[in-house]
Order: sequence, then structure tokens, then C-alpha cells
Amino acid sequence: MNIIGKKSLFEHIIACLNLSSDAACSILDFGCGTGDFLGLVSNAGSGSQLLGIDSSGPFITRASEKHPNINFVCEKFDGKLNLPDAAFDLIVTIDVIECISDKNAMIDEFHRILKPGGTVLAAHWDWDTMLYNAESKDIARRAVAAFSDWKQPWMDNCDGQMGRKLRGLFEGSGKFRGKPDSFNLMETSYREGTYGFDRMQDIARLIGKEEHEKLHRELIEKNEKKEYFFSVTSFLYCGEKI
Ligand SMILES: C[S@@+](CC[C@H](N)C(=O)[O-])C[C@H]1O[C@@H](n2cnc3c(N)ncnc32)[C@H](O)[C@@H]1O
Repeated sequence: MNIIGKKSLFEHIIACLNLSSDAACSILDFGCGTGDFLGLVSNAGSGSQLLGIDSSGPFITRASEKHPNINFVCEKFDGKLNLPDAAFDLIVTIDVIECISDKNAMIDEFHRILKPGGTVLAAHWDWDTMLYNAESKDIARRAVAAFSDWKQPWMDNCDGQMGRKLRGLFEGSGKFRGKPDSFNLMETSYREGTYGFDRMQDIARLIGKEEHEKLHRELIEKNEKKEYFFSVTSFLYCGEKI
């Protein structure tokens, strides 16, 4: 999993939630992947009780190896969470919700396991907002759309426009009251490990070989001429349990 491009998003979320204080609070990271968000929360000095859950066994194993002081559990959300009522002050979920088939059941469960007045922070890239500064505009548009609509094998569901829907999902449930926010990741370097470069490698399997090679070559040239530009927006929703 690409962490380099995401670190600044994680730091933005930690700052929004003021998680660098010593105040003890219990936090669930729903769909924690390899645990890097909770790792940063722990490094930021929060005296919190941290739990990460994810449906991927290999990710949970990796998370436990990387962050042995944090509790990680392998659990696939399928309508219910195997967690007690009113157990958490905060639930964070980053780039997971598009995969969840029954989003209303997920919201009901978040509401159930949060303490009174608890907070949910959901963040999601809106993949249609990916911008590449390329000469071949049509190919670039098709590449972004193909990535946005890509349902990967481990996903039950996919929605490349999930970011823009977060606020409506939570506010419309009548169970949370809060506000939206956004975070823009901008890159000016095209090299392995950057978000724009790594997504372009994913795109290789989604559009024609010739088209992909043309686009990739253009981006390398742009990079050499200091004209490379990539950006993608994550939309956030932070709400309090009603
Ligand atoms: C794009 S990754 C994001 C991981 C992490 N939140 C991050 O931002 O780095 C999506 C994660 O959601 C997990 N996931 C997908 N469907 C799930 C489900 N039904 N229950 C629990 N986790 C799920 C995947 O295994 C994957 O680790």
C-alpha cells in the first residue's frame, strides 16, 4: 500500500482532530489497512486506546508487525461489527466506504459503538478529481475514468465518486451532525512512490497498452521539463453522534 502520498492526508486528519494532545480517548480505525494512520496517531503522543480492524488478514499481520503496541483485529464488516455499544470516542475511516455494500448498516453500527457525543471522521479520495498535466487530454481523461471505475478483486463494491457523497451519507442518516472538509494532494515530481506515478502504473492494466505508453512517456517528458503536475482531492466529513 502506498503510504508516501497518504502521509500528508493522515497528518491533516490528526491536526483536524487535535490528536496530538495527551488526552486519553478510544479510537477505532475502520478499514485500517496496514495500520499507518494509527501508527502516526500513536507517534503524535496521544494517550489513546487504539484499535484497527480490517478484512484483510495479510494487512492485519503487517499492521501488527509494524505497530506492536496497537491492537489490530481481522474482521470483515458485513452488516454488523463485533464490538460493544458506546465503546469509542472516535471512529476514523479512510478510503474504505466505497467498498461497503450496506452503507446504512455501517452508519447504524458506527452510531451504536460510539459513546454519546462521539465523533466520526470519514475521508475518501474522489478519484474523478485526479488531474494529470498531459498533452493527450482525451487519453488522460479516459485513464482517470477507468481508474475511478476500477473494482479491484478485494472490493465488494466500488464508487470512484465516494468523496463527494460522504457528507450526504452521514447527514442524510439523521444520526450525525457535522461538516465537510477537503484535502488536496499536489505533486510536481513523477517517480516511483509518488501517488500520481503509482496510480499511472495501476492504469496500465485498465486502458490500451499503446495509449498508456504514450501517456507515461509524456509525463516523463513533463517531469524532465519541470512541467509535471498531478493533483487529487480527498473529501472529509467530521460529525458528532446525535
Ligand atoms: C484503500 S484501503 C485503505 C486502508 C487505510 N484506511 C488507508 O487509508 O491506508 C481500503 C481498506 O478497506 C478494507 N476493507 C474493504 N472492505 C472491507 C470490509 N467489508 N470490512 C473491513 N475492511 C474492509 C480493505 O481490506 C483495505 O485495507
